[in-house]
Amino acid sequence: MDILTLGNELLRQKAESVEKIDADLIKTARMMLDALEKAKGIGLAGPQIGFMKRLFVIHIEGDIPRMFINPSIIETSQDTMKYEEGCLSLPGIWADVVRPRIVKVQAWNERGRPFTLEAEGILARAILHEYDHLEGVLFIDRLSELKRKRILAKLEKQAKA
Ligand code: NI
Repeated sequence: MDILTLGNELLRQKAESVEKIDADLIKTARMMLDALEKAKGIGLAGPQIGFMKRLFVIHIEGDIPRMFINPSIIETSQDTMKYEEGCLSLPGIWADVVRPRIVKVQAWNERGRPFTLEAEGILARAILHEYDHLEGVLFIDRLSELKRKRILAKLEKQAKA
């Protein structure tokens, strides 16, 4: 399973709702969890593998692997937090991103059951980051223009090397 990187247009497209939670979908989600483990990441969203459906997986060390199908962000805290983020689609790039500290999300799980989860800390961070992927948004979009330009210049230099 190849993880798409910056420059691939699919990363900039909005993912579509999952219409049916069936065996194929769960198989894809499980493969995403495997790819995530191999890549040593904590989250992976459908568009990152070119699967343009509203699905992401998160696996934080010490926690259970989690699948979020058709997620909605119901609520976020006013309270924000700065935290260093990376992304498997932007290898080697890390930057502090400000996001809400707490998030309430509603989604469907692998058994096709709806659930609501209130998360904070790194899980909240991962949910918001992965949710952005479903909207075609990358974490560098949430940085100041100056910081983003610096990162893009660095990536361009890497690509040429
Ligand atoms: Ni990412």
